[in-house]
Formats: sequence, structure tokens, C-alpha cells
Amino acid sequence: MSFVEYSDCIQEGDIAIIYQSHDSMMPVKVQQGTQTQTRYGVIRHSSDLIGQRYGSKITCSKGGWVHVLHPTPELWTVTLPHRTQILYTTDIATITMMLELKPGSIVCESGTGSGSLSHAILRTVAPTGHLHTVEFHQQRAEKVAEEFKEHRVDHLVTVRNQDVCKDGFGVTGVADAVFLDIPSPWEAVKHAKAAMKRHGGRVCSFSPCIEQVQRTCEALVDQGFEEISTLEVLLRVHDVRTVSLPLPDFGPDPSAPTQLDGTEKTTPNQTTISLKTTVPPREIPGHTGYLTFATKPRT
Ligand SMILES: C[S@@+](CC[C@H](N)C(=O)[O-])C[C@H]1O[C@@H](n2cnc3c(N)ncnc32)[C@H](O)[C@@H]1O
Repeated sequence: MSFVEYSDCIQEGDIAIIYQSHDSMMPVKVQQGTQTQTRYGVIRHSSDLIGQRYGSKITCSKGGWVHVLHPTPELWTVTLPHRTQILYTTDIATITMMLELKPGSIVCESGTGSGSLSHAILRTVAPTGHLHTVEFHQQRAEKVAEEFKEHRVDHLVTVRNQDVCKDGFGVTGVADAVFLDIPSPWEAVKHAKAAMKRHGGRVCSFSPCIEQVQRTCEALVDQGFEEISTLEVLLRVHDVRTVSLPLPDFGPDPSAPTQLDGTEKTTPNQTTISLKTTVPPREIPGHTGYLTFATKPRT
């Protein structure tokens, strides 16, 4: 298993995702002799996980069952231990496309935070690209570096523990794309420019507040960036439900036979139909942040 390569069978040391239900999943590190408690009872790694195929249905000690899934950046995003606010897949998908990331891309990122976005970038740029990620909080930088190793993607990423606004990304003239998720991105725009290849390349900054966006856009203009555009992506999820709808009652049927006394037989129409449809959930995820994109001049 690696987060950038699929394997059929579960092996010792893998990170497997235990799927209990749509909104309940957890990552486990697979180890001989270890047990994991689920809401359906215990899973024994040696007999229930190691050697089984990813995707298998596993019966737990209380008789209930779970599925065991191969890790992906998307599953990691919804199961990872939060050390910071993180980016979710709706924003990540847009960032990946708008930064034009592909296998072989060299990317700079700051801050690394909990590594949610980093995993998605690594999967996209593998096997020949590289991520230079900068995190000034020492414990976070160390923890994420440990996770990259455990997930077998450490050969694709360099973690630097420094202040991106003061010290930049630690590389110059190499990046195809730069991503910023820090409180004062405008202070890092000149370092983003320096990290990028001489001509062309894309930059993106994620900020929750419009005042941050304004200052970042001004810094991007000052540094000569072009095609500056800010957007927000809102996700609308739909739940599949069976609903019952009463059929409308249009009154007595004129073609219906009349009774012997000449009056019409009137039976109220109580019929309902049952149909499968989708409904938006009661709570809809709202604003996460604005995404500002820009291009370094190609000439
Ligand atoms: C919101 S988190 C990033 C989350 C990340 N995008 C993810 O998806 O998991 C912001 C991170 O930036 C770090 N940070 C803030 N300012 C920084 C700076 N000037 N240099 C480096 N890291 C910084 C913080 O310590 C924090 O971990």
C-alpha cells in the first residue's frame, strides 16, 4: 500500500480505512497482534486484515460487519487527525485543476497544517513530481513528515520547518505552482514568485475573509502576476430518499357511472404514490474560503 499506488491485499504496516457507515470511517495502522474496537465489535489485525483483499467485508466480534478500504487522499481527508483547520475535497479538486497540476509537477505549499491538501497534491504529481511544503509550527511539521513516511510518499515531498513569510519556500526557480493557506498570504507572494520557474506557472491562495483576499490581490498585482481571479466553490449534497406524495384530487370523475338515484358516487381520492428522489440535507456546508488564482507572466 502507498497513498499513490494501489495494492490488492492488506499487509502489515499499511494504513487501512475501516468503513462503518457513510459518516463513520477510521484509519488504522495494520499490525500483527493488534486489535481495533469498532461499533460492531473487535477486529483482529492478524486474522481479519493481514492478507485480505482491500474492499473485503469483515465480520467483527459482535457479529456486525465493516468494509476495509484502500486509503486515498479523499478518504484520508475525512478521517485524518486534525491538528489545524483543513481543506476538503471540493476546494482541493478546484485547486488541483486550476493550478494545472499533473504527474511531474513541482509544487510549493505553505502551511502544511494537517496535510490534507498535501496528500492530494502528492497523488497528482507522482511518480516524478515533488512537493516542497513549509510549516513553521515544529510539532506539526514533524508529525506530518512522520505521516508521509508511514503513507510511503516521503520520497515525493520535502517538509521545511520555517516561516514562509520571512524565509520563503527553501527553493528558487523550480516550482510550476504555489499554494498558500496561511493567515497573511500577501506577505508570502514575493517568495512564491521567487520559488516559481522563470516564466509561467500558477499560484493559488486560500483565505476565509475578503479583507485577506483584497490584500493578496494587491500583492499579486505589485509582483506582476496576471489573470487574477477569485472564486468560491459551494458543494450541494443530495440524500437519496423514498418519499410518499398524495395524488391530487381533481373532484368527481365526470365519466364515472352515476348511481340509481342520479347522484354521483363520490369517494375522496386518498391515493398516494411512492417514489425515489433526492433531497438536500437539513444542514448544508457553507463558506470555507475564497480561492484566488493568478499566473506568473509567461514572457
Ligand atoms: C489552516 S492550516 C493549513 C491546512 C492545510 N491546507 C490542510 O489542508 O491540512 C495553516 C497552517 O499554516 C501554518 N502557518 C501559518 N503561518 C505560517 C507561516 N508564516 N509560515 C509557515 N507556516 C505557517 C500554521 O501553523 C498552520 O499549520
